[in-house]
Amino acid sequence: MGQVTDLDTFAALLAPEGQALLTALRDHDPADELTTATRLRKDHPAPLVSAALGQAQLRQRAAAKFGADARLMYFTPHGVEQSTRAVVAAHRAARLAALGVRTLADLCCGIGGDALALARAGISVLAVDRDPLACAAARANAEALGLAELIEVRCADVTEVDTTGYDAVFVDPARRGGVRGGRIFDPEAYSPPLSWAVEAARTAPYAALKIAPGVPHDALPADAETEWISDAGKVKEAVVWFGGTPGSAPAAPDAMAGAAHRIVPGGRRATLLPAGDSLLGAGLPDPEPGPVGAWLYEPDGAVIRAHLVADVARQTGGRLIDPTIAYITADTLTETPYATAYAITDVLPFNVKKLKALLREREVGIAVIKKRGSAVEPEELRKKLKLGSGRRSCTIFLTRVAGAPTMLLGHPAAELTPGR
Ligand SMILES: C[S@@+](CC[C@H](N)C(=O)[O-])C[C@H]1O[C@@H](n2cnc3c(N)ncnc32)[C@H](O)[C@@H]1O
Repeated sequence: MGQVTDLDTFAALLAPEGQALLTALRDHDPADELTTATRLRKDHPAPLVSAALGQAQLRQRAAAKFGADARLMYFTPHGVEQSTRAVVAAHRAARLAALGVRTLADLCCGIGGDALALARAGISVLAVDRDPLACAAARANAEALGLAELIEVRCADVTEVDTTGYDAVFVDPARRGGVRGGRIFDPEAYSPPLSWAVEAARTAPYAALKIAPGVPHDALPADAETEWISDAGKVKEAVVWFGGTPGSAPAAPDAMAGAAHRIVPGGRRATLLPAGDSLLGAGLPDPEPGPVGAWLYEPDGAVIRAHLVADVARQTGGRLIDPTIAYITADTLTETPYATAYAITDVLPFNVKKLKALLREREVGIAVIKKRGSAVEPEELRKKLKLGSGRRSCTIFLTRVAGAPTMLLGHPAAELTPGR
């Protein structure tokens, strides 16, 4: 279906006829799109029907990020892809609000994913983007969600905006547009470049810059804290936080909240959403590797990206299974939100024939195959294993132990009955 590519069509969607079409399409089944389009074209202009169907499609795609709000919101195709998911934006907004931020310049606001969360946290936002359609969507979103009083949208190049007087600056540069529109990995190729964003950050009492989670640590400013954020176990982004210059920072309204959210220059943090557990690294050296014990811990991706595996090993009294692999092993089970624990039943040299025989003998019909430090493709291995209809399940780790290709078999600790 056609996507809105011009401001006139977007304005038509906001007018009564466009609104009526969008309401009619709110619960439509994408499988019936052709029939729906034909029916609607009898009473409405074809370009408007096409634009409304395109918007309805984008809303459905955006539900994964914005939940029920997506049904009321407006998107551009890029806007859906590039916007921050609501749970992550809300976390960042809550941290800024707890730091005492009351006014913020959102530089590169897109369709307003962050601006909306910031406004919901009570912050007055100047939302800037150079894409007129993104600005129109951001404005419509602020209106649709009842936040228009807290969000001023300005269509401009962020490099020309004066941010003097704001408590904080937030920059979420465009990271797409590389080869064939793919992701950009070099932070200097972001639009605007990371170096510009860092300079802009240093002019405000507080600042947060959203960057790709795979950013090389040596590209990170030493005077900032970097936070890696995952949601439901998947790493979503990294945020570079700049603290207040003494005397100019607004006072945190709540001392406790302020302490928990305090920015630690040079700090590395992993935050796991939706629960919000947050681990600030203590700068520990990598733990010594040692033999595989009764338990294996698979750290959350945010912990790995933040280089905090050593901190989780310390928490769990564990060691690495190999100096180059981010699996921790221990002899006892220690609860931690930062890693998933597995009870290990077998440690074997990598051998498909042996594995196949073992799984058959144990009546395993369901296998979860994980890998770290192995060239074997889990789906290729699954085909070779030809699992039968066995009623038992098993987790298989393809990895390296002390440099040797190894298979570990086990079960998630969460699935074990107490006392087993
Ligand atoms: C990653 S998106 C922002 C997403 C937004 N934070 C959200 O959650 O919806 C980046 C945006 O930066 C804008 N942009 C890139 N360079 C810009 C510049 N120099 N001035 C203004 N906007 C810019 C793009 O138009 C794009 O909308």
